[in-house]
Amino acid sequence: MNNILLFGPQGSGKGTQGEKLAEQLNLPLVVTGNIFRHHMQEGTELGKLAKRFINKGELVPDEVTNRMIGERIQRADCEFGFILDGYPRNLDQAKALDGYTTITHLLHINISDEEAVQRIGNRRTCVENGHVYHLIYNPPKQEGVCDHDASELEQRADDSEEALKKRLAIYHDETEPLLEFYNQRNLVHDIDGEQSIDDVWKDVKSLF
Ligand code: AP5
Ligand code: MG
Repeated sequence: MNNILLFGPQGSGKGTQGEKLAEQLNLPLVVTGNIFRHHMQEGTELGKLAKRFINKGELVPDEVTNRMIGERIQRADCEFGFILDGYPRNLDQAKALDGYTTITHLLHINISDEEAVQRIGNRRTCVENGHVYHLIYNPPKQEGVCDHDASELEQRADDSEEALKKRLAIYHDETEPLLEFYNQRNLVHDIDGEQSIDDVWKDVKSLF
């Protein structure tokens, strides 16, 4: 059983590496941000609520997020494991997750805030399924079009300079301290996220 957390600051490559790892291990990739963005696009009640927080760079309230993730990882396709990207992000969420399941690995991909700012500026995201590109380091085959599902590529609304600053601050204040919580269980694997995408992938792959 592999119940894996992808952990790291904005732009560290959680989404990028998560896509590869999910394929390699044949496990569902659960990206909190993508689920919210999907609801935002569909205009559901959850989407309307999430939008108010996400576009400002703030966390969606724990109660809503915990319920959503609890429901998602208890579905049949997670029976043999899952990869979680973007959850938990604070102590309340980590405790809620403990109530649902047992985590086996935390992959901590780390980069500096300077690198995060550089990368996020050139990120493009697929509207349909959240596949991730970088205009220089990981460009799509055809400009503006996703390689996987031919959907349109866009710049995320929360990738503005102002929202990113707030997201990084929240990461350092509320999310990063969780490393200690999981370190006490010896689940943390540190990975240097400032290498090339291929070299980060080698480090990730070597753990499984
Ligand atoms: P979410 O969508 O999870 O965003 P995030 O955590 O801010 O992380 P990012 O997606 O920005 O970074 P990433 O690590 O995935 O990097 P990527 O692989 O794309 O969350 C968005 C929002 O949803 C939150 O702010 C919050 O409002 C809400 N939310 C989500 N979870 C929540 C929760 N648990 N509780 C409450 N609210 C929640 O890579 C970035 C770029 O760099 C790409 O362009 C990529 O191509 C490039 N790149 C990647 N690796 C490399 C490399 N090695 N070298 C060069 N370029 C690289
Ligand atoms: Mg992401």
